[in-house]
Amino acid sequence: MEFKVHHSGRAHYYTPEEIDVVVKAMNDAEPLTQSKYRNQFEQKFSEFLGVKHSFAVHTATDALELTAQLLQFDEGDEIIIPSFTFTASAYPFVKQGAKIVWADTDPKTHVITAETIKACITSNTKAILVVHIAGYVANMPEIMDLAKKHHLIVVEDNAQGIGTEINGQKSGSFGDFGIFSFHSHKNISTLGEGGMLVVKDDDIAKIIPMLRHNGHCAFDFEQEHYWEPAMGNVDIPELNGKPIMPNNYCLGEVECALGVKLLDRVESLNTEKRTRAIRFIDALADFEDIEFHRVNSTRHNYHLLLAYFPTGKRNEFFKRIVYQKQIQCIAPYYPLNRYDFYKKVGMGKANCPNTDLFWDNMISFPFHHWMSEPDFDYMLAATREVLDDLR
Ligand SMILES: Cc1ncc(COP(=O)(O)O)c(C=O)c1O
Repeated sequence: MEFKVHHSGRAHYYTPEEIDVVVKAMNDAEPLTQSKYRNQFEQKFSEFLGVKHSFAVHTATDALELTAQLLQFDEGDEIIIPSFTFTASAYPFVKQGAKIVWADTDPKTHVITAETIKACITSNTKAILVVHIAGYVANMPEIMDLAKKHHLIVVEDNAQGIGTEINGQKSGSFGDFGIFSFHSHKNISTLGEGGMLVVKDDDIAKIIPMLRHNGHCAFDFEQEHYWEPAMGNVDIPELNGKPIMPNNYCLGEVECALGVKLLDRVESLNTEKRTRAIRFIDALADFEDIEFHRVNSTRHNYHLLLAYFPTGKRNEFFKRIVYQKQIQCIAPYYPLNRYDFYKKVGMGKANCPNTDLFWDNMISFPFHHWMSEPDFDYMLAATREVLDDLR
């Protein structure tokens, strides 16, 4: 069907300066992968985040696959993950043999908390994966304290929350692993796909280049001629004395060059989205049938604009906003335990009443950065009209 305001799969457009950077890299990158622009992107990303080790990868899913390998799960090990997230937050851990324990979300903020995590900890828990869903940072200081007490590894899936912070510290820099996405939907996109993996541990950082690039490494002896016995070695990286099989998860040079430039715009993109979100939320404050999580600070970047219908009118609103007003609202993040995939791998059960109640009564408005002012005004007026009719 034709929509007046569609849910765009593209988050933003590019400035002329960003396009120039892409064209320049197309002309001067040599080789077109694994070279100077990757190094610049990783270095600038580490400075942006205030961390030591950042690794550019092809997707955030790749960063999660690497993380899942590096966690080296033994039989019976568990990882705590919110059921309210995208499937890529979870299935890489299933592939590495971990058992997922689904954590509930807070009813107001929709992220997991130290309290909801605590309820899932058992003697088999090895790690916690926190998702800053919709672009709101979970309470990382509290979660890190809890993890320290129980000797748990923390992974921050920050695919949606780039540039947000809590107590002046950037999201994605708290955990042992930080994951970022530059997919087409995300706050900044390196031409449709892209990701970054941030790690704290120096030993882990040492083996990521090999794991990311087919096990390529140097020989451990001085070569007299660079072609003898081969141009370079291929080996199996080891961590804690155990082998980890390599992959090819590299990100191309043109994408990396653009990533360097886009980092300059993260803050203004986030501010523009947040300002709009607050305008929308405040303009609907007089309706009791709809609620939003309102955060007018850098703790939220409003990657997504989610709404909750506390009086049970979600389905009626959905039909009217879609069929009468042609606004393509969606309902993302079906709790993962309800999907066939997770049922088939024995992870179909969850004790997440807040998540279930929220998902059954929520909606996500179209909220791409490039939405025009007339479209935004139309969406707001149409929402008011539908809510008026439902009163
Ligand atoms: C929370 C979350 N984690 C991971 C991903 C995967 O990102 P990518 O598409 O870069 O692999 C996404 C993307 O939608 C996401 O929203």
